[in-house]
Amino acid sequence: MDQRTKKIETVLAEDRQFHPPEAFSRQAHIPSMEEYAKLYKKSIHNPVSFWESVANELVWFQKWDKALEESEAPFYKWFVNGKTNISYNCLDRHLDSALRNKAAIIWEGEAGDQRTLTYSQLHKQVCRFANVLKKLGIGRGDRVAIYLPMVPELVISTLACARLGAVHSVIFAGFSAEAIRDRVLDCEAKLVITADGGWRRGNILPLKNIVDEAIQDCACVKHIIVVKRGENDPFPCHMKEGRDYWYHDIIDGVSAECAAVPMDSEAMLFLLYTSGTTGKPKGIIHTTGGYMVYTYITAKYVFDLKPQDVYWCTADIGWVTGHSYTVYGPLTNAATVLIYEGAPNWPDKGRFWKMVEEHAVTIFYTAPTAIRSFMKWGDEWPNKYNLSSLRLLGTVGESINPEAWIWYHQTIGKGRCPIVDTWWQTETGGIMLTPLPGATSTKPGSATLPFFGIEAAVLSEEGKEAEAGILAICRPWPGMLRGIYGDSQRYKQTYWSKWPGKYFPGDGAKKDKDGYYWILGRIDDVVNIAGHRIGTAELESVFVEHESVAEAGVIGIDHEIKGQCLVCFISLKEGRQATESLAEELKEWIAKKIGRFAMPEKIIFAADLPKTRSGKIMRRLLRDIASGRALGNVTTLADANVVEQLKKKYEED
Ligand code: PRX
Repeated sequence: MDQRTKKIETVLAEDRQFHPPEAFSRQAHIPSMEEYAKLYKKSIHNPVSFWESVANELVWFQKWDKALEESEAPFYKWFVNGKTNISYNCLDRHLDSALRNKAAIIWEGEAGDQRTLTYSQLHKQVCRFANVLKKLGIGRGDRVAIYLPMVPELVISTLACARLGAVHSVIFAGFSAEAIRDRVLDCEAKLVITADGGWRRGNILPLKNIVDEAIQDCACVKHIIVVKRGENDPFPCHMKEGRDYWYHDIIDGVSAECAAVPMDSEAMLFLLYTSGTTGKPKGIIHTTGGYMVYTYITAKYVFDLKPQDVYWCTADIGWVTGHSYTVYGPLTNAATVLIYEGAPNWPDKGRFWKMVEEHAVTIFYTAPTAIRSFMKWGDEWPNKYNLSSLRLLGTVGESINPEAWIWYHQTIGKGRCPIVDTWWQTETGGIMLTPLPGATSTKPGSATLPFFGIEAAVLSEEGKEAEAGILAICRPWPGMLRGIYGDSQRYKQTYWSKWPGKYFPGDGAKKDKDGYYWILGRIDDVVNIAGHRIGTAELESVFVEHESVAEAGVIGIDHEIKGQCLVCFISLKEGRQATESLAEELKEWIAKKIGRFAMPEKIIFAADLPKTRSGKIMRRLLRDIASGRALGNVTTLADANVVEQLKKKYEED
C-alpha cells in the first residue's frame, strides 16, 4: 500500500467530531456555523464588497479605485491605486488609544532574559531603526536581507523596512552561508541585518561570521548591521570599517520620528524564498495592501483575537508562519505577542509549558512535528505546569495525525480548547483552510473548511471534481503571492497553468461528505521535513556538486517525529569508495550547503539509479524501494536490473 492510500484509509477511518465548547462560542467573533455560512456565502457571492469592508477596518492614506483587477490574470491586483503602509497599521494606528501602553511584544531569550515592548515603545524603536536604514541609503524598493535569531530586533527590522517601503527578505537563521549567498544575490540585497550570535540549546550560533562568509562574493551588499546578542564570545566577530555597524552604536541618538511612507497597495512588501520542484529556491513575492488585509482578517477570526489575549506562535520569523502570524497578522490586530528565542527542550523539556504558565498564554500555535516531540517526551512535562490560561490551540505545517491531535486536545488543551488546524503555504500569504474556533466542529486530521473568500475544490488532473485528488483554489484572494522574483513566467507556469483560472498548490486532498478537506501531502517532489519544505531537485543538484558524486536521487519517507525525512540514493564517480565516512561527509555537505535542518536521514550508495529511457531519475521507484513496497511499473526503465540491485542493497543496509 503506498503512503497516500494508507493516509486516505486512516482519514476515512477518522470519524470523531469535536464541537466548539459553548463558552468559547458565546464570546467568539464568529460564534456559530450559521454565522460562518452567512458570511462565507456573502464573501463568495459578493467578494468585492466583502473584501472592501475588511480593508476599511484598516488605515489607507488613499482609497483604492478598484478592489480586484483581473484583466491580466494570473497577474491579479488588489486594492488598485490604494496607498497604505503596513508598519503604520501595525503600530501608529494603535497609538491614539489605551492600546498605546499595551504590550506588543513579550520576549524571552533562551537564557531566560526578558524584554517587553509596548506598542508605543515598539513604534519608537521601529522609527529610530527606519531612520538608521535611511541614513545608510535604504529607501523604497531596496532589498534588505535579515538573518537574525528570534530577538525583538527581528520584528523591528521587518517593520522598519516596511515603514520605508524597503523590501525585506528574512533568511531563517538555520540556513548556511551558501544559502544566504544565493538569496542575497538573487534579490541583490543592499544591506544585511544580523547578530553576532544567537542562542540555541545553550550554544551560540555565530551568525555574523556566517554572513561574512556568505557575502564575500556579493558586491551588492554595502552595509551590515550587527545586533549584539552573543556577547562576542566564543566567536569574536570582525567588524569591517565603513561597512559594518553595531546596531546599538548606529541607533544611538537617532530620532524616534519617522513618518510611514505611503506605499502603493501593489508595492512589494517582502520576499521569502521557498523550495520548489526544480533548481534553486524561488523568491516568493508578497505585496502591501492585499497581504495586510488578508493576514489581518485571518488572524482576527482564526485565532479569535481579543484585546486580553497573550498569543504565542512558536514558528521562527524566518518562515512564512512567523511573518504572517507573529508579526503582521497579530500586530495589525493590536495583539500581545510572545516571542521566544531558543529551543523547546532547553534547559529542559518543560520550557514551553513553563512559558505558557508564566506569561499566561491564551492562544498557542505550533506544528505537528513539535506536538509529536512533546508526546514522546511524556505528559509529565506539561503536567508540571498550570496551563489553564490556554483557550485556543492551533497547528500548521503538515497534516496532523489524529493521535497527535487527540493528545494535544487532551494533554495541553485539557479537552477545553478548540484546535484550529490551518492549511496554507508561503505562497498563499495567509491561512486558507481552517476551522473557525467558535463555529466549526473539528475532526482530528482535517483542516476542515475554507476561510471567507476562499473557493476551494478537489480536482482530478483533468480538472473534474473528485472525492480524492488535487487541491485547487478556484479564484484569487488578497493574500496570494504576486510572483516569483525575477521570473514571472515561472509563476504563471507553476501555479496557474494546471487548470485555467485556478491556483495549483501542489497538495493532494480529499473532501468528505460534510465538505471537509483532508490534506494528503505534496504530490510533487517537495518533501516536508518537520514542517519545512525542501525540493528534492535542489538537494540532488547540491549533491552532484560534491566531487565524489556522479548522480543523486532524493526522496522523502515517513518519519515518526518529523513527518518526513530524506533518503538519498547516491551513485559515485569512478574510483570513489562507498564508505561510512563518505556518507557522513555527504550529510555534512548538505548541512553546509543548505542548512542543518535539511540533513539527510540516510545515504544509500548505489552503482546506478533507476532512470527512464529519456534519462529521468524515477523517484517513484526509489520510494517503492525505501518503503519496502512491491515495485511499481518498471516497464519504462532503461535498465530493469538496476532497481532489483538497488532494492537488494537497500534491504542489506
Ligand atoms: O503541503 C502543505 C503543508 O505545507 C506546505 C506549505 O509549506 P510552506 O510554504 O513551507 O508553509 C508552511 C506553513 C504555512 C503545503 O503545501 N501544510 C501546511 N499546513 C498544513 C499542511 N498540510 C496539511 N495540513 C496543514 N494544516
